[in-house]
Amino acid sequence: MANEQEKEAAGRAAAKLVRDGDIVGLGTGSTAYFAVVALGERVKAGLKIIGIPTSIQTADLARAVGIPLTTLDEHPEIDITIDGADEVDPKLNLIKGGGGALLREKVVASVTKKMVVVADSGKVVATLGKFPLPVEVISFARTVVEKKIVALGATPKLRTKSDGTPYLTNNGNQILDCSFGAIADPPALARELNGMPGVVEHGLFIGLAKVALVGRGDRVEELRS
Ligand code: 5RP
Repeated sequence: MANEQEKEAAGRAAAKLVRDGDIVGLGTGSTAYFAVVALGERVKAGLKIIGIPTSIQTADLARAVGIPLTTLDEHPEIDITIDGADEVDPKLNLIKGGGGALLREKVVASVTKKMVVVADSGKVVATLGKFPLPVEVISFARTVVEKKIVALGATPKLRTKSDGTPYLTNNGNQILDCSFGAIADPPALARELNGMPGVVEHGLFIGLAKVALVGRGDRVEELRS
């Protein structure tokens, strides 16, 4: 349960960074959850913000805790986004997408002035790659992309639901969880994946995060890129 406490501490610390009037990107996952709940508490206490959720799950949570929502069509620029990560390296490059929301998360991060990562201490790594990299693909191209990823030296595995059928993202796509082992050059791998037809998005977030708040024991550490 230490992890849960670290997640809650990180999420709550990040929620304090949000200011009146902010357009706020709301991340997805069990750590972002705590930030959204804490923001809901601040909204009830009078904070005026509008949220942009990165998944259906987060939209439901945000509504439940009273955070007004908007869309990127209405507000294409975001002041601050709070989101989790599966791995965080010393440059604040990330692996994301364990929760399947990587595409919307990356779009939101890409138009955010300040992206704040929230994580428990187990997410901090020296080198990305132990966590299988999620790659979102259109189902039409899955086998083609799988072959290209194998040629890069990784082992892709189709993400499935408990009944064995393919997991589908909020965008109706499939996910290949790709075990690369240590990723020596994350920007180069990101470029390689960006150039593969059929890949909609991948979970390497390069240079997007400005600060990471990491729960460690009973403290919250601040990491900067
Ligand atoms: C969802 C994500 C999550 O932020 C990531 O998987 C971390 O989740 P958690 O905070 O539950 O460990 O990228 O797509």
